[in-house]
Amino acid sequence: MTHRPIRKAVFPVAGLGTRFLPATKAMPKEMLTIVDRPIIQRVVDEAREAGIEHFIFVTGRNKGVIEDHFDRQAELENILKAKGKHEEIEMLEELLPGPGQTSFTRQQEPKGLGHAVWCARELVGDEPFALLLPDMLTQSNGDSCLKQMINGYNEKGGNIIGVEEVTSEETDQYGVVSIGDGENKCWPITGMVEKPKAGTAPSNLIIMGRYILQPEIFSILKDQREGAGNEIQLTDAMHRLMKVQDFHAIEYEGLSFDCGSRVGFLTANVAFALAHPELRNDFAIELRKLLEGLTHQSKTS
Ligand code: UTP
Repeated sequence: MTHRPIRKAVFPVAGLGTRFLPATKAMPKEMLTIVDRPIIQRVVDEAREAGIEHFIFVTGRNKGVIEDHFDRQAELENILKAKGKHEEIEMLEELLPGPGQTSFTRQQEPKGLGHAVWCARELVGDEPFALLLPDMLTQSNGDSCLKQMINGYNEKGGNIIGVEEVTSEETDQYGVVSIGDGENKCWPITGMVEKPKAGTAPSNLIIMGRYILQPEIFSILKDQREGAGNEIQLTDAMHRLMKVQDFHAIEYEGLSFDCGSRVGFLTANVAFALAHPELRNDFAIELRKLLEGLTHQSKTS
């Protein structure tokens, strides 16, 4: 059976980013850089690699710079041209989605992820779509995370949630799924809960910020009440949709970094620097020096 193709992706970027203040006072957290690219560029790259054709951003206050980032900067291009910086021009060209391939809408008030997704309803229309939370960055040697999920979707159809295994101590910070019998790291989902209290999680598989959803989620979100944290939770709406549609969990193969937290963001910077062909060697030398200093300090203290 063939399933309707996934052509559009939604990126909710209207959160406040309070954990990164003061960096995020005037700048969106999605524009913080991981080595030399803003976080949001890396997530859009993941979606493009998976074959996404249209990129929908749900934005909020101070987020205009994201729109500028995905537009041409004619003045800059002219200066680079005059200076003969052809490689830089080509790189910028390669990263830019084509004309008409991006859409922006406003959430107006940060009422929660479920509400942010609902704000994309007119732009998505009546077709299944991908949802990528820029908070989570993925890094894999093979297919990107979303590509792995689209491969699974092409087989199973319905709704797909990307999951990863964490320790029991970490489950209370995320949405957690319970699963039935499956194979090849793909399982039917039997339940889900947002930020379960310590010791009550139904499994160690957390919802890691990548989803493929059917458009029926929008009619559910329309009347979804506030849940955990007094926010409209996507997990609660998916839980209701689960009663009438199939959901599968796919365990992503590769690394992921929770860039919504400062430690995750710093770790992502180190991992992407160590994977950068031009920076890898020099950076590894500096990193080793720092770590040796740390070991020396802990031995002498
Ligand atoms: P978070 O709750 O992690 O983001 O939401 P936040 O609110 O920006 O972060 P802190 O806790 O204040 O530091 C996860 C994702 O959902 C988006 C965020 O932008 C982030 O990508 N989001 C969240 C919205 O777009 N709107 C919302 O109302 C809430």
